[in-house]
Amino acid sequence: MTLDELKREAAAEALKFVQSGMRLGLGTGSTAKIFVDLLAERMNAENLHLLCVPTSEATRIQAQSLGIPLTTLDNTPELDLAIDGADEIDPQLNLIKGGGAAHLREKIVEMAAKRFIVIADETKLVAHLGKFPLPLECAPFGLEATRRQLEKAIGAAGCQGELALRQKANGETLFTDGGNVILDAKLGRISNPAKLADALDHVTGLVEHGLFIGMAERAILATSTGIRTVTL
Ligand code: A5P
Repeated sequence: MTLDELKREAAAEALKFVQSGMRLGLGTGSTAKIFVDLLAERMNAENLHLLCVPTSEATRIQAQSLGIPLTTLDNTPELDLAIDGADEIDPQLNLIKGGGAAHLREKIVEMAAKRFIVIADETKLVAHLGKFPLPLECAPFGLEATRRQLEKAIGAAGCQGELALRQKANGETLFTDGGNVILDAKLGRISNPAKLADALDHVTGLVEHGLFIGMAERAILATSTGIRTVTL
């Protein structure tokens, strides 16, 4: 099976958790995109009543084009369920997210949901987080000062590694939907993700980091031999 086929399997399995009347958070990325396509198909086929909050402009545009009813967290601050992909998933269901530069809105939406389910192909499951560079969304103002504070916090949490300003394919600085920039921290291995998240939470100028600690209730992983569900 190709990676895309595996992503589709995971997305289809997650669709089983959706019921008519739900308020849903819609994730961002290639796996979430497949989920949104399948959601629209099922919504139309079964006349499901849904109200959804997208986690990025890209997802908003996709969902809108498919006729999925959308709202905002200002109008609907509590959601029943959020479904999203991840860049890395550890066995404790801690995640690295933000490879698609959307982790700030993703975290806001997923914190607002009673249940958060992660969907991914099996390659995303890792023994330890950190091989995937940790996205750190920062205010552009004072970036170099923030970078120093981040390096200190990362060191205090027992990690180290280069912080690289994320660029678009054309070499220009990437700005997030919120108008911020991203430093990607190449940490190699994060031995204590909760400790690192806590240290980062105290850095002024950091808008949000890509560690999602204790937020997901389950990960639906598509493997070449079938669906594997990880719960705690
Ligand atoms: C977006 O910022 C990310 O958090 C995505 O959820 C993550 O990168 C997973 O994307 P894929 O499904 O494309 O791997």
